[in-house]
Order: sequence, then structure tokens, then C-alpha cells
Amino acid sequence: MAFNDLFLRACRCEQTERTPIWMMRQAGRYMSEYRAIREKYGFLEMCKTPDLAVEVTMQPVDLIGVDAAILFADILLPLEGMGLDLEFAKGEGPVIHNPVRSRGDVDKLRISDPIEDTGYVMDAIRLLREELKEKVPLIGFAGAPFTLASYMIEGGSTRAYVNCKTLMWQDPEAWNGLMEVTTDTVIAYLMAQVEAGAQAVQVFDSWVGFLSPADYKEYVLPHSKRLIEEISKGGVPVIHFANNAGAMLDLVTEAGGDVIGLDWRIDIAKAIDIVGLDYAVQGNIDPMTLFAPPEIIERKVADILEAVGTRPGHIFNLGHGIHKTTDPDNARVLVKAVHDHSSRIRGNA
Ligand code: CP3
Repeated sequence: MAFNDLFLRACRCEQTERTPIWMMRQAGRYMSEYRAIREKYGFLEMCKTPDLAVEVTMQPVDLIGVDAAILFADILLPLEGMGLDLEFAKGEGPVIHNPVRSRGDVDKLRISDPIEDTGYVMDAIRLLREELKEKVPLIGFAGAPFTLASYMIEGGSTRAYVNCKTLMWQDPEAWNGLMEVTTDTVIAYLMAQVEAGAQAVQVFDSWVGFLSPADYKEYVLPHSKRLIEEISKGGVPVIHFANNAGAMLDLVTEAGGDVIGLDWRIDIAKAIDIVGLDYAVQGNIDPMTLFAPPEIIERKVADILEAVGTRPGHIFNLGHGIHKTTDPDNARVLVKAVHDHSSRIRGNA
């Protein structure tokens, strides 16, 4: 089979004969093939064993038919090399046992060494490029500085960001120190991924939508901007996904990226108006649409594709990660609907 480069061409805003699609969190628990492996290994153990990471990365490519692979890993992996004690506790999600709460805690952090501390990620990337040779491109990824800092400060998932915002406002120097060491870590980590063979990279700012636009602009944007400027030197497309950030999409775009990721809370035509023609866009169907009957999935896909029209530079995706109880058959319905309908719109049916 010939290599499918639709995703890479769409990232560069080139015309494509149909719209490429991949799904955030496409390698995961909604697939029985993933659960069968996960039963035998811990989550971190899977991330740190390149053969297992390769196997689960390939599952949605081979079984769902997406147009890009995303490395199986986690945004929190580089935190270990920074000096944080990370655990994925059963049923709880990530836990950091020594959260960052003060200037002193920030001063103890190091820039993680991508090879020494996370060489297993680079090994998985090299193996994956072999595996994917005649298939689809490989996306690497990392967390954005704010999202990573929020985990480091809160020590896990949170709803109110009490400790995070308190540090940001009470000790802006400590905050900036934390954002800097995190940004430096992510720059080194993503450059190493590109060097190992990642053909695009996505920066996940999953929780930045909890900030007001003014706080984003003052406390986060300069760091995200520096990160994206630096990793752009790697020469592969950068996807900037800021979740729940439709109300500050102008600022997210200002921070940069070749592709701006959109969650489902914003109308894609409005988003395109804000983002402009110099960027590709990625998104943005509500992941819960996959719980609707096939004809509704098809209608929602058509709505998005028709709103985009023949504008070059659209990558179809969910507006956030796929839910763990999704029926994989519905993910297949989604992929087929995107392929069929976009071929009709783009004149290749
Ligand atoms: O997209 C993919 O398929 C690649 C793999 C991937 C994972 N995590 C695997 C994973 C990616 C891209 C991530 C990124 C990630 N990790 C983000 C940003 C994406 C987003 O959703 O906004 C965040 C915030 C994390 C942190 C994280 N990892 C949390 C909060 C959790 C627990 C919540 C949950 O869904 O259980 C994880 C665990 C995790 N990361 C799992 C997977 C497949 C589930 C682990 C398991 O098998 O038990």
C-alpha cells in the first residue's frame, strides 16, 4: 500500500482529495484489543516498554482506519525527570506525590533530559516509523506548559485550580520559574521526538480554558509562544490544541502553531474566521456524538465538512479525547463518513 500523506499535506494547508481524520486518545480503553494488553501491564509500564507502546499505537491505524498514528505515551512522562514522583493510581488518574507549592519547590526542579529520562519514548518512535512505513504519518506530542504546571501544582486532576491560581497570583516569580523550567523540558522533549522520527507534533493545553483570556495573555501566552517558536525549528508541523479555549482563540493563535486545534464548543466556521487563512485547523466533532445512531453521526460530520467547504488545511478530529466506553463500530462509522463525504465535497467521489 502507498504511504498516506493526506494528514501531512493538510497540516501544510495543501489541497487534499479528501479530509484526513485521526482521533485524540485513539489508542485506548474503548478498544478491546487495548484492554487485553492493559489487563497484563500497568499504564506506565506500557508507556515505558517500546514494543507494547508500538502495538497499541498501531491498533487504531489497523482496526479503525485513521489517517495518522499518535504515539502511545502520556503528557506527564517528562515530569519524572524533572524530579516529580508520578503514579497512575487505579481508578484515580494521575497522582503526583510531591506537588510544587512554593518557590523552594520550584528551585528543586530540573530540566528533564529527553534521552536519559524518556529514551523509551524515542525508542518507540523509531520502531513506529519502521512499522508505519507504508501506512500513515506519526504524530508525537507533549503537554503545554500551563497544563503540565497545573498537574505539578495540584498533584493530580482538579476542578477549581485553587493552588495553581494562588501560586500564579501570589508569587508570579515562582510561577514564571516553574513555567520556564517546564517549557525548557518540553522543548528538549519534542525536539528529541522529531529527531527520533515524529512527523508532526501536537501540544496539548487541555486545561487552559479554566483561565480568563486576560490571565492567559499575561501568565501563559509568552511561555506557549516561546515553546512553539523553538519547536518549529524542528521543521515538522506543530498542532496547538487548547481545550475549552474558544473564547480566546485569537490569543491561542497568537501563541502559534501550524495547525490550530478546536474543541467542539465553537462553531467551526466562526473559528476559521478568527484563526484566518494562514493556519490549518483541526477538529471538532463532540466526542459524545459517537454515542448517537449512525445517521446522526453522519449528519454531524456533513455539517462540519460543509462548513469548511473546500478550504485547504482541515484535519478532522474529535473536539477532545474519545470516551472510554465508546463503541469502536461508531468510531469506524465516523471515519468512513469523513472519508466519503469529504471526497464528495472535494470533488473526488
Ligand atoms: O491520543 C492517544 O491515543 C495517545 C495516547 C495519549 C494518552 N494520554 C494515553 C492515556 C495521549 C495523547 C495522552 C495525553 C494526555 N494525558 C492528556 C492530554 C490530552 C487530553 O485529554 O486533553 C492529559 C490531560 C493526560 C493526563 C492523563 N493521562 C489523565 C488525566 C489520565 C487519566 C484519565 C483517564 O482517562 O483515565 C491519563 C491516563 C491515560 N493516558 C490513559 C491513556 C490510554 C488511560 C490509562 C489506562 O489504560 O488506564
